[in-house]
Amino acid sequence: GQVLHVVGTRPNFVKAAPVVAALRAAGCDQALVHTGQHYDERLSDVFFRQLGLPEPDTDLGVGSGSHARQTADLLVALEAELTAREPTVVVVYGDVNSTLAAALVAAKLSIPLAHVEAGLRSFDMTMPEEVNRRLVDQLADLLFATSPEAVGHLSREGVDPARVHLVGNPMIDTLLGHLDRFDPAVARAAYGLPERYGVVTLHRPANVDDPEAVRAAARALTEAAAHLDLAVPLHPRSGAALRAAGLAEAPGIHLLEPLGYVEFMSLVRGAAAVITDSGGVQEETTVLGVPCLTLRSTTERPVTVTHGTNRLVRHDELAPALDKVLAGTATVSAEGPPLWDGKAGPRIARVLTRWLESHG
Ligand code: UD1
Ligand code: UDP
Repeated sequence: GQVLHVVGTRPNFVKAAPVVAALRAAGCDQALVHTGQHYDERLSDVFFRQLGLPEPDTDLGVGSGSHARQTADLLVALEAELTAREPTVVVVYGDVNSTLAAALVAAKLSIPLAHVEAGLRSFDMTMPEEVNRRLVDQLADLLFATSPEAVGHLSREGVDPARVHLVGNPMIDTLLGHLDRFDPAVARAAYGLPERYGVVTLHRPANVDDPEAVRAAARALTEAAAHLDLAVPLHPRSGAALRAAGLAEAPGIHLLEPLGYVEFMSLVRGAAAVITDSGGVQEETTVLGVPCLTLRSTTERPVTVTHGTNRLVRHDELAPALDKVLAGTATVSAEGPPLWDGKAGPRIARVLTRWLESHG
């Protein structure tokens, strides 16, 4: 039987790489479909190169659009692709629109579905990702969870526990697998940063699409930059909005293009603090032991707060929270989340290959 991976965005690539590698090592027949949701070299190709992902067997080139337009285009393109390929199982990652569309198409074509990173919940249905996650988990036949909380959410939503596997975090496999390539000194020199600096990423609609929120974010970052030089790689979604809201290149603010994975993680590894609204970055900072201030009111990854370095802050709390971090008085847990050990990919591969043996 063939395993078909569907990926479309930057975080998908980081999560899929270790699963693809582990299945390759197990001698499994697999194919990789790129939906083209992310298409810029800096959001896509660079990850394939740096993470050793195989060239996609197909790039559907779906591109950007409103949620309805993008999801509709994804559904049509994926239906044709999955119908032609007839895979034994489809594997989807995370919570982006490509994930939902592939899950829906697989379900309607009666192709078994596996969801990597199942069960995360922010309980905030205004997040497009929360809608995607909940629906995908209802459709999946195999659900791979990164934390015990996620397993609990799935069980409360009535998902058959026999389908759920707690396997750890493939994004952390990628991080640990490439750790020796992350050189903060090289990255610092490349981007003209002083020895002590912070890294900022913002791209959630709640922070960058609402004019009020984006002004608050720009103000909070400008204030924070008085305490710490900030490297700000800008997601294409947020660059124009943050600039229009007054975030400008200035002493202490270093606006950058989206970075390659190795360059980005090199900066994060050497940072005194990270300010973000990213899902993945909350997890990566936890494992690297770098203090993380998350500009959100909820997180679907509470394990990064209870077992890691993450703290949720409002915009007006950012500068004081950063002061605490820089003074070394912020409290962090050193334990690390269970099973975030770099072996999630092989665990997923083991479950999938066993499943394939019994299902063709
Ligand atoms: C998507 C995911 C989000 C994830 C993020 C990772 C959904 C609903 N959202 O958000 O969960 O955290 O990816 O980065 O799936 N654009 C480019 N170049 C590209 C791709 C996009 O310039 O290669 C611009 C376009 O103007 C586009 C906008 O970014 O309209 C948003 O892209 P989209 O894929 O819709 O969502 P993201 O904000 O990237
Ligand atoms: N990332 C990167 N370069 C950047 C910003 C992020 O390589 O300029 C990586 C980051 O390390 C993480 C992944 O992209 O592994 C997460 O992507 P993003 O924050 O866009 O998505 P989310 O996790 O919020 O869905």
